[in-house]
Amino acid sequence: MIQRPFPASRPRRMRFDDFSRRLMRENRLSPDDLIYPVFILEGQNHREAIPSMPGIERMTVDELIREGEELLELGIPAIALFPVTPAEKKSDDAAEAWNPQGLVQRAVRELKQKLPELGIITDVALDPFTSHGLDGLTNESGYVINDPTVEVLVKQALSHAEAGADIVAPSDMMDGRISAIRSRLEETGHLNTRILAYSAKYASSYYGPFRDAVGSAGNLGKSNKHNFQMDVANIDEALHEIAADLNEGADMIMVKPGMPYLDVVRRAKDEFKAPTFVYQVSGEYAMHQAAIANGWLDRNAIMMESLLCFKRAGADAILTYYAKEAAQLVSQKN
Ligand code: PBG
Repeated sequence: MIQRPFPASRPRRMRFDDFSRRLMRENRLSPDDLIYPVFILEGQNHREAIPSMPGIERMTVDELIREGEELLELGIPAIALFPVTPAEKKSDDAAEAWNPQGLVQRAVRELKQKLPELGIITDVALDPFTSHGLDGLTNESGYVINDPTVEVLVKQALSHAEAGADIVAPSDMMDGRISAIRSRLEETGHLNTRILAYSAKYASSYYGPFRDAVGSAGNLGKSNKHNFQMDVANIDEALHEIAADLNEGADMIMVKPGMPYLDVVRRAKDEFKAPTFVYQVSGEYAMHQAAIANGWLDRNAIMMESLLCFKRAGADAILTYYAKEAAQLVSQKN
């Protein structure tokens, strides 16, 4: 065979100009892809910094409304709410979780009234409300008991739906909670309340700063979530969880954390072709912010790269603490 005097293919040709790079670009990030998580506080007119999440603040509900206005201006479709519960409202039965006058329920009502077009996602799990910081009710030996916990999660999800939440998002990893919540929502006429199931939620160490932010780290102490969240070594298990949640009536599924779990995102999307969301969690954000603060990584470039990679892996939407900055940057470019 005659050896050609030039390479058989020159992929660099298409990379030569910006115009052809743009023409062949397979994935793009848009503000439509982003969900902004917010930590909410009791009280008024107050914001406070979270040391392990530089740039992110906890805020009272009046401040949350201002934040919501900003999100709408940026074209971000939805917000995810996470409450900081004062110590005196935490208990073993997590009753505050389904209090119709609770912080989340009040925040949802106010947001819906003032900014009806902003999608509201609420977290369904008991960890902000339990004295031990675990996501469910426990027995004498501290083990999270599944079925009694599911009953409380159902009450919590219903109280969110009644307040006007568009999407309830169980992040607790109990078995059977999606079907229990779905049936109660159907029975009570909440036919369009969507369920975002945290299906592939791993027992990850990347949640540390979030637990500081909601103030559950102290309650949790030395205990861990390994007997309900998934082993980081597994992927078949994630697919089983996702299949179960979709069968039970989930509208969207979540993979969490994000960056170290892109393989799970890809497999989930390929196998089920369902709306697939991913959570770039607090520890991922903290890690980036630390490197950026040291001048080791370029802020805008690293932020956009990390988010675009979620799209390439197959994610439809991304929960990220970078939502606002990313939306701003994308809009400037267009
Ligand atoms: C609680 C919950 C957690 C996160 C979201 N919902 C923490 C946990 O499971 O301990 C973590 C999010 C983040 O780290 O940004 N069920």
